[in-house]
Formats: sequence, structure tokens, C-alpha cells
Amino acid sequence: MIQKVGVIGAGTMGFGIAFQIITNGMPVVLQDIKEESLQLAGEKLKTYLKIFREEGTLFGDSDETITNRLTFTTKIEGVAGCDLVIESATENLELKQEIFRQLDEICGENVILTSNTSSLKLSEISRNVEKHKDKVMITHFFNPAHIVPLVELLKGPDTKQETYDEVNAFMKKMGKVTIEVRREVPGLVANRIQVALAREALSLLEDGVVSERDLERAIFAGPGFRFSSSGLLKIIDFGGLDIWDIVLGQLQPEIETNVRSFSVIKDKIDQGNLGVKSSKGFFDYPGQSLDEYVIERDRSLIQQLKTFDKIQWEIEHA
Ligand SMILES: NC(=O)c1ccc[n+]([C@@H]2O[C@H](COP(=O)([O-])OP(=O)(O)OC[C@H]3O[C@@H](n4cnc5c(N)ncnc54)[C@H](O)[C@@H]3O)[C@@H](O)[C@H]2O)c1
Repeated sequence: MIQKVGVIGAGTMGFGIAFQIITNGMPVVLQDIKEESLQLAGEKLKTYLKIFREEGTLFGDSDETITNRLTFTTKIEGVAGCDLVIESATENLELKQEIFRQLDEICGENVILTSNTSSLKLSEISRNVEKHKDKVMITHFFNPAHIVPLVELLKGPDTKQETYDEVNAFMKKMGKVTIEVRREVPGLVANRIQVALAREALSLLEDGVVSERDLERAIFAGPGFRFSSSGLLKIIDFGGLDIWDIVLGQLQPEIETNVRSFSVIKDKIDQGNLGVKSSKGFFDYPGQSLDEYVIERDRSLIQQLKTFDKIQWEIEHA
């Protein structure tokens, strides 16, 4: 059972991960080779406790209790007594391989070892791991890790299902939203989606199709606005899979060289599952008419509209 967590690397991400965990009731040992990174993390802790409280967050514990849950060390041996160690040091393969080798040596065999890497492969980072082969994972947080809910989880080929289940349950207990990445792919899921968006947006800017400010407006006020209350597949369900199939067919050849036909859409169309209007698409929409589901969706978009004024002001004054 995870009762104490070690975080290796006290930079941008390591601090955020530690903050998330100590504010959710669990002690953390934060380790960094640089004393100044640890000092900065201690200062950021005070700043963010204040900011969260000013924004109305109730942690359920006093600042003193939360602060006392965090201990600092420059020695990697300091995390040996933890049940889960999250490595979040500088993005460098050799460095992470060496950290994992050392953790493998100093940690008891039940300790789970995870990496927060953005771009490196778990199989390579954990190449020198012997004792903990069945206990290695990627736990990929998003910056700022103490605010953005998502944590992507990836098992290695030898990782036990019970290790995954334990880490998954732990992250949820820490207030995070987890997803399982079923196969090792560079960039995992969310960063790949973000890079795909960046590739197209930056091409439009580069080609002079849109100004910088209007590019921001397009994302904030269009797709970004919808994504604040719904994922992509629900948006397709509401738009209609048949309609999206036509749009994809027309636009994909214009913007990509390696055009793929998506059986994940076409098979559903063949089965008559066109989205909300046919009560089934990627998800099920039982018992209500299209209009009723649309009204339900629009209610949440109207809620989002309430915070939109502030965002719009920021775009206009950027
Ligand atoms: N910054 C992001 O947006 C982001 C998002 C998701 C994941 N990540 C990943 O998180 C990890 C950390 O990124 P970051 O942005 O916090 O970097 P950072 O540069 O802010 O912090 C890295 C910290 O690691 C420390 N460090 C270096 N070698 C060490 C060692 N041997 N032992 C202990 N500590 C060591 C450094 O002193 C530094 O304080 C990277 O793997 C990165 O890819 C970053």
C-alpha cells in the first residue's frame, strides 16, 4: 500500500507533483542534487498554498500540517523508505537510466518506480532495472502538475497488473484523472494530440493564413471552448459520424500527405451508429431525443460561457 512517496527532481514538475500529493494527505520526500532547487520548491510551496487559499480551495488541513508532510534531501538514499518513487529529473536518458539503476539497488522490492518523462521510452529508462522489473511505470503529469488533472499511465512489458492498479488507485485518491496508454508510443496520448494541433496551427501562421491574435481567438473561442466541456468523440457524436466522415474525407487530403481512412468511424456508420441522432455513436444516448441531449450539452456550454468573458478579455489585451 502506498503511504509515503519519493519524488526525484524538484524542478517545475517535481514541485507540482509533490504539492499535489502533500495537499491530498500523503507525505513526500523530495530529492534533488541541487540544494537551490529544493529551496525554491520550499518557497513555491508557501506561495501556492496562499494562491490556492485565495482562490477558495479548501485543503482540509492547515498550511502547517501540509508543509510538515514535505521533507527535502539531496541524497537519493532519502527516498529508500518510500512505497512509490516518481522520477521527475531532467529529461536525459542516461541520467534517468542511472537514477533507475540506483533506485533499483536502494529500494525494497515492493517499491514502485515510475518516471514522469515526456518523450523517453520506459523500456529504455528502466533498462538497468533488475529487482523492480514488474514495478516500473510511466506516470506522466501535465504542467502545472498541481493543477491540471490528467496523469497518463503506461506499464512496461513486465509490469504486473496489480502495480498498475495500485498506482491508478493512488493517483485517483490524489485527485487526478488517469488514462491508460495501452502501448508504448512516443509522446503518449495527450502530447501527441497537442503536437498535432500545434503542427496545423503553426503551419497556418507560417503560411500567412491567419494573424497570431486571430489564431489564439480561433482556438480559444472555437474548438477550445467546446473542449472545455466535452472530449473529441462526444463532439463527433453530436455533429454526426456521417457528417464528420464527409468533412474528414474532404479536408484530410488538403492537410496531410499520409491520409488514413478511419475504420473506427466508418464501421460505426455501416452499422447505422451515427451519433446522438441515432442513439448510439462512440457512446450510447438512451431514452432521450436528440433535442434533449443537445439542450443538456448546451447547458454546460452556457456555464462555460460565464468564464469566457475573462478569457476573451485576455485575448483582446494580449
Ligand atoms: N515541464 C513540463 O512541461 C513537463 C511536462 C510533463 C513532463 N515533464 C517531464 O518532467 C521531468 C522534469 O521536467 P521539469 O520541467 O520539472 O525540469 P526542470 O529542469 O524544471 O527540473 C529538473 C530537476 O531535476 C534535477 N536533477 C537533475 N539531475 C538530477 C539527479 N541526478 N537527481 C535528482 N535530481 C536531478 C535538477 O536539479 C532540476 O531541479 C522531465 O522528464 C520532463 O520531460 C515536463
